[in-house]
Amino acid sequence: MKTKQFITLIFFTVFASAILFSCKKDEKEETPAPAPSPSPNAEFVADTNSFLSYSTWTIQATKFGKDPALGAAHGGNDSTVTRQVHFKDGQSPVNGKYPVGTIIVKHSTNTGNTLNEVTAMVKRGNNFNPTLGDWEFFMLQPDGKIAKDANGVFMRGANLMNGMCGGCHAGAAAKDFIYSK
Ligand code: HEC
Repeated sequence: MKTKQFITLIFFTVFASAILFSCKKDEKEETPAPAPSPSPNAEFVADTNSFLSYSTWTIQATKFGKDPALGAAHGGNDSTVTRQVHFKDGQSPVNGKYPVGTIIVKHSTNTGNTLNEVTAMVKRGNNFNPTLGDWEFFMLQPDGKIAKDANGVFMRGANLMNGMCGGCHAGAAAKDFIYSK
């Protein structure tokens, strides 16, 4: 009788610990692994070499001639102008916003070779320019290097040309400040 009780006890102990073990295992499996959250401080700071190969990038738009909406910007008052927009890696918006590191270059030339203007926008991120989608505006040289002003200061920033770039691009706020795509 005693032996029988002992065996029953052993049996239940093993059975109970098996249940306990499997419960613990289940608990472990149910706990979701923490999802890697994108860093809110992600930032891309372009340097003077970031734009060098712009003429080989995806051509997103080509426009010709005068555009009264542009005024003098991008050679928009020149009837012989060609305005070409290049997107590095053909970048597209994700959920309505371009990813940090997106680079877009616009090249305006005319038939008389009196105009050779290169401008750029870079999605810098990290709260750089919150009212204008964290874009940084640039004036480039035709070879793609960042242009310098008369004082030798790089022509870049959130408010290039007294906010002129941003003032006009604010008109495309619904498309993350980009007109051509
Ligand atoms: C008066 C309005 C106006 C001003 C000022 C202006 N832009 Fe634009 N920009 C446009 C329009 C409109 C386009 C779309 C292409 C086109 O129509 O030629 C454009 C296109 C661009 C593009 C290609 C991406 C896109 O939005 O399609 C870049 C890059 C750009 N502009 C940079 C600049 C920079 C840098 C400045 C300031 C130095 C500037 N823009 C000033 C109106 C303006």
